[in-house]
Amino acid sequence: MPYARTEDFLATCAALTDHALEERLPATEEAPGRLHEAMRYSVLGGGKRIRPALAMAAACAVGGEPEQALVCACAVELIHAYSLIHDDLPAMDDDDLRRGRPTTHIRFDQATAILAGDALQALAFEWLAGAHSLTADTRLAMVQKLAAASGTGGMVGGQAIDLGAVGRDLSLEQLEQMHRRKTGALIEASVRLGVLSVPAAAGGPSHHDSLDHYARAIGLAFQVQDDLLDIEGDTSIIGKPQGSDAARSKPTYPALMGVDGARAYLATLLEQCRDSLSGFGPEADALRGMAEFVVSRRY
Ligand code: IPE
Ligand code: IPE
Ligand code: MG
Ligand code: MG
Ligand code: MG
Repeated sequence: MPYARTEDFLATCAALTDHALEERLPATEEAPGRLHEAMRYSVLGGGKRIRPALAMAAACAVGGEPEQALVCACAVELIHAYSLIHDDLPAMDDDDLRRGRPTTHIRFDQATAILAGDALQALAFEWLAGAHSLTADTRLAMVQKLAAASGTGGMVGGQAIDLGAVGRDLSLEQLEQMHRRKTGALIEASVRLGVLSVPAAAGGPSHHDSLDHYARAIGLAFQVQDDLLDIEGDTSIIGKPQGSDAARSKPTYPALMGVDGARAYLATLLEQCRDSLSGFGPEADALRGMAEFVVSRRY
């Protein structure tokens, strides 16, 4: 899939997701208005919507339509937005810029930011559990996978390892574990939930194994590129403070293996993404394009 078409695919997925989020998030006119304002500010203020696009691309790969993955796309994006709010707090990365605007605790206050994150997390599961177009079994499987990817075995555990490793040297193996949990797990879940969204998803276990393999590779690749952008990116383009990792002595791929080493690793991970989709036809083109986008993105 040519790059321009992946951008079109991303734009379509983002528009679908933004519209649904805009409609379903609690209104600022409803009490507590300030909390709802902070939730809407954090979720609706831009963002590439890569996780929703991956869920939708995965649905396409198993014969579905992007719209079928809309509920899980929104749920995953709510968890992501909550993770960003908390990641930026003074107790964590202490950043004041996100998506080119003040972070939630700067725009509002810390207590409101913490509560907005908490409420978004709960809402993600409320929406999934209440998605009546899906069978109860499917919803249960989705809730289980998203919870596992969000908690100590996934994002939260990875964030704990990240914070505990500041200023310490991690081995390559430890760094990979940290990245797989803090970022990879939610990206993997996006792909898996997208597959689950299509009721009669074709293919036996090997089909799903291939997609799991793809999901693991792209999840790790995503954070390696994020680490590189912290060094090579431009604050006005990435929309968050460039150099934040180095300023806090964060363990990152470029810190451990150098910029060239991290780039080479990224190329290996892209190859793994491509290989894992070799048994698929054009139905997996959106997934192929997303892998190229993730490793070459400038923001
Ligand atoms: C940034 O994620 C945080 C990480 C997990 C590295 P994104 O780069 O997807 O952030 P947005 O949603 O586009 O702002
Ligand atoms: C955060 O990783 C991953 C999350 C779970 C939010 P980073 O701390 O590198 O994300 P950015 O660079 O602030 O977006
Ligand atoms: Mg962080
Ligand atoms: Mg951060
Ligand atoms: Mg980062």
